[in-house]
Amino acid sequence: MRDLFDRILENKGPLGKWASQAEGYFVFPKLEGPISNRMKFQGKDVITWSINDYLGLANLPEVKKIDGEAAAEYGAAYPMGARMMSGHTDYHEQLQDELADFVQKESAYLLNFGYQGMVSTIDALVSKDDIIVYDVDSHACIIDGVRLHMGKRFTFKHNDIQSLEKNLERATKMAEQTGGGILVISEGVFGMRGEQGKLKEIVELKKKFKFRLFVDDAHGFGTLGKTGAGAGEEQGVQDEIDVYFATFAKSMASIGAFIAADKEIIDYLKYNLRSQMFAKSLPMIYVKGALKRLDMLRTMPELKAKLWENVNALQNGLTSRGFNIGDTNSCVTPVYLNGSIPEAMALVKDLRENHGIFCSIVVYPVIPKGLILLRMIPTATHTMEDIEATLEAFSAIRERLTNGTYKKLSAAVAAAMGE
Ligand SMILES: Cc1ncc(COP(=O)(O)O)c(C=O)c1O
Repeated sequence: MRDLFDRILENKGPLGKWASQAEGYFVFPKLEGPISNRMKFQGKDVITWSINDYLGLANLPEVKKIDGEAAAEYGAAYPMGARMMSGHTDYHEQLQDELADFVQKESAYLLNFGYQGMVSTIDALVSKDDIIVYDVDSHACIIDGVRLHMGKRFTFKHNDIQSLEKNLERATKMAEQTGGGILVISEGVFGMRGEQGKLKEIVELKKKFKFRLFVDDAHGFGTLGKTGAGAGEEQGVQDEIDVYFATFAKSMASIGAFIAADKEIIDYLKYNLRSQMFAKSLPMIYVKGALKRLDMLRTMPELKAKLWENVNALQNGLTSRGFNIGDTNSCVTPVYLNGSIPEAMALVKDLRENHGIFCSIVVYPVIPKGLILLRMIPTATHTMEDIEATLEAFSAIRERLTNGTYKKLSAAVAAAMGE
């Protein structure tokens, strides 16, 4: 018999196997200094394009003041215990009411972390007789939630309504046999490529099929829609989203998350969400911090306006220079280039070392082989100078990618990787 750790020591996993080449630089990089458009990486100034602080709240003095005051008054512990047992407060309820109001739902419930909250919400919404139909490119937290499901599940092709329809036909037949219902899950904005989930078209299918819609709007909350209520508001279908989810980890620049729905559904989830029932309540620092941030989302539309000014300048600048930014219709800005993984590594190094640009890089197996995705998150803190410098840098790296400079630079790495 093998020792359990033998496999772990032999095979570090799809990402872990790159650790010796990538750690500290491409993965687990250390960005230093206050969270903003410009930070330090390995002692050098860089323009940061990989921080989800969409509205620029993270480093605002008035936000940090509230966080600090809450920490001084309550410490990190209060309230102790799970919400159900001893960790409940008026402020938790106030935040839930204000969140529900903001996303135009009857009721809301707080989650300590978006990831676990999504897993648990999916788990609580379905029984073994129910069928889940979800987008194949869903975030890992949706995949993990679906993994807990004891019944049938179908994926539909990414953002493909025909494929969703086909799978709804299959799911309907199946549900007629099991006596269960159907849960469709999509995202408000797909965080890698920036396309909004086709919520309007999905909702249209409710005329033909019987299902409930659960939307993970992590990137849409605070950034999309007239009031910032997200992708559903942007597409005019917020009412038709049966269960709405958003995290505080992006436009709210904090930690925590929430779900919102009709009161009866939230009342049910409150008593059935295992990740909340059996875990300590969201600490007061985050609850009071979120109340402040939500107030700013509500009362300072200029933050979202500035964000979009930057998004438009960056995306228009890229397309007018001939870059392929795919089908994004959100703030998430992908740039697709052709090249191998070693070339991508050389290119990112050049961007960081010689141009002072820090952005995330995504390669195979997340996207097809031979493609490089540079993913940028514009925020309200970026300036036109940042955008201009970035566009210049991107033109320079594209030139070097096409003239083979990165191929030469990465030949040794490519040989070691068998590319
Ligand atoms: C689409 C999506 N859903 C859920 C989460 C998880 O949220 P949290 O960071 O609050 O755990 C993320 C990442 O933050 C995300 O991008």
